[in-house]
Amino acid sequence: MRAVDLFAGWGGFTEGATAAGAQVVYAANHWPLAVEAHRANHPEAEHVCQDLRQADWGTLPDYDLLLASPACQGHSQASQPRRRRYHDNLRATAWSVVDCADVTQPQALIVENVPDFRRWRLYPIWRLALEALGYELRELRVLASHHGVPQRRDRLFVIGLRRAATVELRRRGPEPAFGPCIEWDKGRWRPITKAQPGAQRRIIAAQERHGERCIVQHVTGHKGLALSEPLRTVTGADQWAVVDGSRYRPLTIRENARAMGFRDDYHWPATATRGDTITGLGNAVPPPVARDVVQAVMEAM
Ligand SMILES: C[S@@+](CC[C@H](N)C(=O)[O-])C[C@H]1O[C@@H](n2cnc3c(N)ncnc32)[C@H](O)[C@@H]1O
Repeated sequence: MRAVDLFAGWGGFTEGATAAGAQVVYAANHWPLAVEAHRANHPEAEHVCQDLRQADWGTLPDYDLLLASPACQGHSQASQPRRRRYHDNLRATAWSVVDCADVTQPQALIVENVPDFRRWRLYPIWRLALEALGYELRELRVLASHHGVPQRRDRLFVIGLRRAATVELRRRGPEPAFGPCIEWDKGRWRPITKAQPGAQRRIIAAQERHGERCIVQHVTGHKGLALSEPLRTVTGADQWAVVDGSRYRPLTIRENARAMGFRDDYHWPATATRGDTITGLGNAVPPPVARDVVQAVMEAM
């Protein structure tokens, strides 16, 4: 099964599709660093760095399965309607999926986004466009923690097949705890007393609820998490910190990557800043989720 990955980012979707047995032959994104990260981990694919709203779809190699994660920031209700034009612009990336399917006519397609994608006022029209191209669409809501990922991350997968087959996605075991992902001897710990007064109060309240060792979120009023639970959504905001008695620190890159289900030897470009890497991770499809969804779609095809 040959696949194309649009908005391929740092490669979560490709990583999972490869684990499911697909061969990703083409990956495209407009962020040079993302393309570099993707290429380092998936050198066998052809890589293209471009704005996909201006792509020439006729240049794609032959393939069967279209994978795509158009920009999701414009769909998250939390950030509406501030920065409206910017978000309109990002939402428009979803039309590239339609354009690509129109020109290249893959056997199947899988589009990943936030659940709020369905609240986009053009979503019904976007669906109709894909249906007009001959795809039977179904929507899957997938919780990453049901697929072996130590993170409760809720995402929407819109799946298009050329026939009315059922896509059966099976849950894999109980939700994993995030605690075993923590590297206690790594990172730059700080005394809790050095935190801002509001942050100190939140950390102490979280310790009262969850114990001396626990997880807290910067900035918001989140109540913290026990180490026996999965982490909550990793985003580009770099918002999670670990607390150990009288000290705390932000999660390391590796802890963030583990929370996303990436293998420890996944390669991050040496030139990438912490912010870049967390953005790449926070955008990604957790590879184990991608693996299970792609496998289920391949079985249905
Ligand atoms: C949700 S992320 C994709 C994550 C990726 N599928 C993964 O699993 O790692 C969306 C990606 O689309 C890219 N992007 C946004 N607008 C774009 C555009 N107009 N053309 C190409 N890529 C774009 C962003 O740089 C980002 O990497």
